[in-house]
Amino acid sequence: MHSGAAILAIETSCDDTCAAVVSRDGRVLSNLVASQMDHDRFGGVVPEVASRRHLELLDGVVGAALDDAGLTLADIEAVAATRGPGLIGALLVGFSYAKALAAAAGKPLICVDHLQAHVSANFLEPEPLEPPFICLIASGGHTFLARVTERRGYEVLGSTTDDASGEAFDKGARLLGLGYPGGAALDALASVGNDAAYDFPRTFVGELDFSFSGVKTSLLYRLRDLPPGEFEGVKADLAASYQRAVIDMLVGRVEHAIELTGINRVAIGGGVAANSRLRERIAALGVTVKVPPRELCTDNAAMVGAAAIETAPVDYPGYAGFDAYPTGRPAPAAA
Ligand code: KG4
Ligand code: ZN
Repeated sequence: MHSGAAILAIETSCDDTCAAVVSRDGRVLSNLVASQMDHDRFGGVVPEVASRRHLELLDGVVGAALDDAGLTLADIEAVAATRGPGLIGALLVGFSYAKALAAAAGKPLICVDHLQAHVSANFLEPEPLEPPFICLIASGGHTFLARVTERRGYEVLGSTTDDASGEAFDKGARLLGLGYPGGAALDALASVGNDAAYDFPRTFVGELDFSFSGVKTSLLYRLRDLPPGEFEGVKADLAASYQRAVIDMLVGRVEHAIELTGINRVAIGGGVAANSRLRERIAALGVTVKVPPRELCTDNAAMVGAAAIETAPVDYPGYAGFDAYPTGRPAPAAA
């Protein structure tokens, strides 16, 4: 490969330690994720555990990403890393590592916003989706709808006012005794249940915002009120009806966004995009739909590389004072 044509990208905003190499023309040369399954034991992500594991795993994951791409650090044009938003301790490990690596190798740094990265996953080869399109990002950490009119940037049309949709799946799964993270298990159980057996609330906030706390509370009460001994017999029906309510809310918002904007091209991303019913329902909308492969929907570094392609690199020592940010975006002066 021509030297200087590829970006090394690092992502550590939550509990996955990710590194990838992406070429300037949007090809994924390598894409590695070390998932921290220890969190399963605690029923959620433990921030301190996540940070420590990133520290242990990062060097190996970055080295393997370069090896898989058949490149060395010298061949890399720039180092990119997620700067925020996310768990601050986790972000700091990856972002500081990227700064140090870039400085030591004499390479520029490219700072990437995690949410932009999820949107930018759609620009990777093969078959990139060109703007304009509506993008639904639904994961354990975020749920928002974006209007994407160019490769860099997007307009948030709506977002969750409480839980993320993945959290709704995870909390529902936990209530149904399916472990953590339970979205995939709930999806599987729902496939053998009757989704019309129970009526769960659909909440629509504002013009295009989401709310998932009501449906979760409703499941909690349903379970509490079940006669003793009935749970096992109705578990699949509860899972199917609960999933249908969550998906109705997601798809309802996508449909409304299509109506409001007149843009009939849709992309979905985030871990919830792996949901089989959601994929069927979005496909049935009759519009152009893009669902990137699962490994580009869940947290990964290739999407960080995709966003980095559209972002200006910063030369050393310009980035020496940059900090990660846990929420929102950095003040323009610090960007
Ligand atoms: O994007 P992701 O890997 O990590 C972040 O949260 O950023 O998303 C993980 C979320 C979890 O909440 C998980 O339960 C959910 O995606 N998920 C699913 C499915 N597979 C993963 N939710 C519903 N159905 C699935 N098949
Ligand atoms: Zn994410």
